[in-house]
Amino acid sequence: MLHDPNHLYIFDTTLRDGEQVPGCQLTTSEKIEIGIELERLGVDIVEAGFPVSSPGDFQSVVELSKNLNDVIICALTRANENDIKVAAESLKFAKRGRIHTGIGSSDMHIKYKFNSTREEILERAVAAVKYAKSFVEDVEFYAEDAGRADNEYLAKMIEAVISAGATVVNIPDTNGYCLPEQYADKIRFLKENVKNIDNAIISVHCHNDMGLATANSIAGVKAGARQVECTINGIGERAGNTSLEEVAMILQVHHNSFDGLKTNINSKLFTAISRQVSMMMDMPVQPNKAIVGKNAFAHSSGIHQDGFLKHRENYEIIKPEDVGLDEAGIILTARSGRHAIKYHLQRLGYNLERSDLDSLYTKFLDLADGKKEITDQDLINLAQNTTIKV
Ligand code: KIV
Ligand code: ZN
Repeated sequence: MLHDPNHLYIFDTTLRDGEQVPGCQLTTSEKIEIGIELERLGVDIVEAGFPVSSPGDFQSVVELSKNLNDVIICALTRANENDIKVAAESLKFAKRGRIHTGIGSSDMHIKYKFNSTREEILERAVAAVKYAKSFVEDVEFYAEDAGRADNEYLAKMIEAVISAGATVVNIPDTNGYCLPEQYADKIRFLKENVKNIDNAIISVHCHNDMGLATANSIAGVKAGARQVECTINGIGERAGNTSLEEVAMILQVHHNSFDGLKTNINSKLFTAISRQVSMMMDMPVQPNKAIVGKNAFAHSSGIHQDGFLKHRENYEIIKPEDVGLDEAGIILTARSGRHAIKYHLQRLGYNLERSDLDSLYTKFLDLADGKKEITDQDLINLAQNTTIKV
């Protein structure tokens, strides 16, 4: 696969690793609503589900494939033919489909999860990639628990799967085990020791068991990875995954430290999508969560308030409006006019034609008559129904 060396690919797995969390399950139509917002946010790849796991997950991948046009749709599998065949079937409507297959790579997983040997696992990894390749051009391979895997063996596995056709190689720190320098050393080791590494993109996929998921992902990017797997609000198994909004803002604030690496992310949509995901998944965001927590831009101590009032940048490294936090305090009610609605729609990334705005306004008044206040989510729903003909 040809790729732009200055682009950092954002692979969103909110709808797969995030949705696996107990209590976070979504209906297919909720997944489509989030998928549409992820596409508007500017992610490159949406991991839409694990199709063999349930008929609902299969259907979600089918529907997301039909409804999203500008992103790669990815489907997860284990390293066996049935999973891969089902994933390929679920992707048949995708404009660009990717199969994400893989197997454990640490001795712990090889022995206690698969009751197998390094040699046998390597053969299964290669066979899975070759089989996936018979359906789609774009095949991503994950070496599960790579964080704890022996680097020499991992390098052998990665070289073999790239030779078999993998276009992206995912090096997951499945258990959130690594320190940032250990994880960076692993990525660097692969770059230096896998002969065909330039034929694939290295992807980082980190879990947050010790609060290091974002730090490890960033360390991996600095060592040469060019795809980050992450979720909105950092939701995911156990303590979660790398948070998408944290990675994107780190790149934005520290752009000089990343040799011109760029993403397509529109950070102004973060607050709205964070609230949407939190509400639909019934998963509150911790108040002190970086970027999207309720307190992320609140200054409470006297010393900080005094310094902030003298000059915002004394205590503000990111402007709240850059992540879509509304500072104007314009509240939408049944008495609001078109200007206020237009202001909020623009803040949420919707620039509607006059006629669409008029038709949305009528629906807005109907809704606002029965509610005290209209939320961002209400507006997004109105805008999607007005502008997107699905
Ligand atoms: O954490 C992990 O290893 C995963 C893989 C299935 C990619 O989620
Ligand atoms: Zn994971």
